[in-house]
Amino acid sequence: MRKHIVAGNWKMNTTLQEGIELAKNVNERISGKDVTVVLCTPFVHLTEVSQLITKDTLFLGAQNCADKESGAYTGEVSVAMIKSTGASYVIIGHSERRAYYGETNAILAEKVKLALNKELIPIFCIGEVLEEREVGKHFDVIKTQLDKGLFDLSSEEFGKLIIAYEPVWAIGTGKTASPEQAQEMHKVIRDHVHGKYGKQIAEDLSILYGGSCKPSNAAELFANPDVDGGLIGGASLQAEDFMGIVNAF
Ligand code: PGA
Repeated sequence: MRKHIVAGNWKMNTTLQEGIELAKNVNERISGKDVTVVLCTPFVHLTEVSQLITKDTLFLGAQNCADKESGAYTGEVSVAMIKSTGASYVIIGHSERRAYYGETNAILAEKVKLALNKELIPIFCIGEVLEEREVGKHFDVIKTQLDKGLFDLSSEEFGKLIIAYEPVWAIGTGKTASPEQAQEMHKVIRDHVHGKYGKQIAEDLSILYGGSCKPSNAAELFANPDVDGGLIGGASLQAEDFMGIVNAF
């Protein structure tokens, strides 16, 4: 059975003290519903936030990880370090990492392997830019990101991860994909996974939508058969907004 998941991506926001307050607020407001909630905080916050989680549907995640296991890589954070904080998820391949930090599909494929080896659940992000959609290349772009980033995995490995479809033109722009656009792409993703890994794995895969998702549009997005939750940026920085999205299921 596929899970409903709402993950907050705090990005480079909140000091440690602000982050603790926000996490406490979210933790308090969770009322044992059938939705897995994940807080993807800055690295610096992980250990502290992990201590204050008391709800069994609330989990912790990082926003990135190194593509190397350990060693002389100044400033990098390994999957083992992330795991040791109590985190169980990691966002990999966010479009901001791809665009601003030159993360290629090959680098991302390495990160996914390392994360799975340490039993961290990757939230693997894919998405097209506006020009690609305008010339009708969006489905091909997404399939290439899947092929090159993930399709070297075994069925067992692939069965553990989560995909987030985040059209780049919708991230932080206030311009959300319509429920029809989201459903259409999520179905293309699920069908592509079906072609490679078969029906069961495709059916069990949680595919999250991300890009200007907020309490006012979450319910209509989540009502689609292939939209299994959301990856939330801006609206995850206020506990009330974030919980409004969690409760949209
Ligand atoms: P947004 O960001 O909700 O602020 O558009 C989503 C994301 O980048 O994960």
